[in-house]
This record gives sequence, structure tokens and C-alpha cells, in this order.
Amino acid sequence: MEKYRSTADPSTGIHPFIPPTFHPFRPLLRPILTLLRLPFFIILFPPFLLLNSFLFLLPSLLSYPLRRILDKLFIPYILLSLSVIPTYPTIEQPRVRGAVRGKHPSRSDILLANSTSPIDILLLSFAYSPTFAVPSDTPSHVHPLTLSQALLQTCTTPSIPKSPPQTLKQLLRRNGPISILAEGCSTNGKGVLRFRFTPNPQSIPDNSVLYAAGISYTPRGAGCRTIQSMSSALLHAMGEWRISARIRLTAVPQDGAEHQACVATLAGVPPLKIDLESGRRFAQHWKDTASCKS
Ligand SMILES: *[C@@H]1O[C@H](CO)[C@@H](O)[C@H](O)[C@H]1NC(C)=O
Repeated sequence: MEKYRSTADPSTGIHPFIPPTFHPFRPLLRPILTLLRLPFFIILFPPFLLLNSFLFLLPSLLSYPLRRILDKLFIPYILLSLSVIPTYPTIEQPRVRGAVRGKHPSRSDILLANSTSPIDILLLSFAYSPTFAVPSDTPSHVHPLTLSQALLQTCTTPSIPKSPPQTLKQLLRRNGPISILAEGCSTNGKGVLRFRFTPNPQSIPDNSVLYAAGISYTPRGAGCRTIQSMSSALLHAMGEWRISARIRLTAVPQDGAEHQACVATLAGVPPLKIDLESGRRFAQHWKDTASCKS
């Protein structure tokens, strides 16, 4: 293959002369696979969400272990009905200076992630059952979310939840581990936005480790695409033959910009250089168009 490389289009990597592979059965396969998987999904997903929301109401001593059991029982089958096969999360050896050598995250730890689709949220819950949170406008504060809120958050216009903002210490004491969706909104999976959450060393308890979490999908990007609604994202996944998903973590006690770069490397996409101001303008524009439609 190497000898063809030089004639490929440098910007896209596409070779103009090799004919595209044609799959005569692909277009037929999609609706068939979706129809076969949909019933399993409908049987599993609503009861799972209901039980999970109920467990969030219990005192934390009970809530976390029970949620962990529920996640382990249900999520592998829900993911299978979405054609997603998760592999065991791996801890990458840190390449950045000052990074600590990681072990698997425990209840006192924080995962910094971006979010592109509901599948990301299900995968992270399967691996660690974290409490999800989004950055707040108050620095070093976050808004906790239940699992169903976190799933919806990946599909709606960027918005700040109504739950009161909490400091990381408050949230960790009761609901750790935490997964912060640090971009504060979801993207189309083409890159990682600048993180709106910048960890402040005083706000993080001493025994907590910050992890950057990146998920990559094979076929590339199959688990994340531009989505308008949760159903379109899930139906799209159901039609795939098979999606394998891999979570990779690195422990990094660095500033926000390095976390963004780290998640981007782990997920195998570029870090986007869009600054926070244009991000905010985009969010406002998105909100305006959404309110026009409704
Ligand atoms: C982060 O973004 C990348 C691409 O933009 C995506 O592949 C990945 O699934 C996203 N989510 C997480 C938690 O890494």
C-alpha cells in the first residue's frame, strides 16, 4: 500500500484512482439490524433509566453500590442492542510532565471528559458509574446531573442545569467518582473543544486524582455523529454491524488546556482552537434558533 501513498490527496488521504469498495448488502442490512435490535433496547432501556433515577434519591452510602450493580447488569446488554462492544478501559502511561502514574479511578477521583453522544455516557457509566456534572458559571463549581439528565445533555442545546452549583469537594464527599463533561456542551465528534472547566488546585481534595478520559470508536466516529435528538443517535448506532469502543484514561494534574489536549490525544482527534467567547456565541445562537423553532 505504501507505494500508493504518494498519489493520495494530502488533505483528505483519499486516493483518487483506487475504486471505492462497494457493499451491495449494506443499505439493506441497516434497517434489518435496526429492527432486530430495537425490541431489546425498548425492553431494557426505560426500566434501567427508571431504576437508576430512583437510586439517585437514596442516601449516598446505598446509592453508589446499588447503582454500580445496576449499571453492570443492564448497560452491557443495552450497549449490545446499540451494536456497541465495549473493551475494558485502559490506563495510559502519562506522557506529560508532572503527571502521576494512574490506577483505575476510585470513588474519590474525577474524570474529565467531553461528550459527543449518549453512547459516551453509557460507556463511562458501565466502566465507573460516575456522577456526571457540567461546569458552572461560578468558577470551580459544577452542576451535578442524574444519568438521564446527562444523556439528554448530550443531545440538547447547551444549557446550564437548574440544580444548584456545588464545589468538587461537596460533590465528591457524597457522590464520587465524578465525571465532568468539561466542554459544557456536546460536539459532532470532529475534535475536542476548549474545556470550560478549569480545575483549581485548592478546590480538589488531596487524595483525588484527575483523569482525562477519551473514548475512541471503530469504525472511526461510529459512536459520535452530529445529532439532533437522542433517538436519531441511538437508531443510527443500531443500524451498524458492530461498533467497538475503547476508553483510555491518563492521570494529569495539569491546567485546563493540557487536559483538553490530553482527551483529544486519547480519543484520537484534534484539539479545537475555538476560544471560549466564540463557543459562548455559538451556544447563544443555537439557543436562539431552537427557541424560534419551538
Ligand atoms: C470526546 O470526543 C471524541 C471526538 O470528538 C469522541 O470520539 C469521544 O467519544 C468523546 N467523548 C469522550 C468521553 O471521550
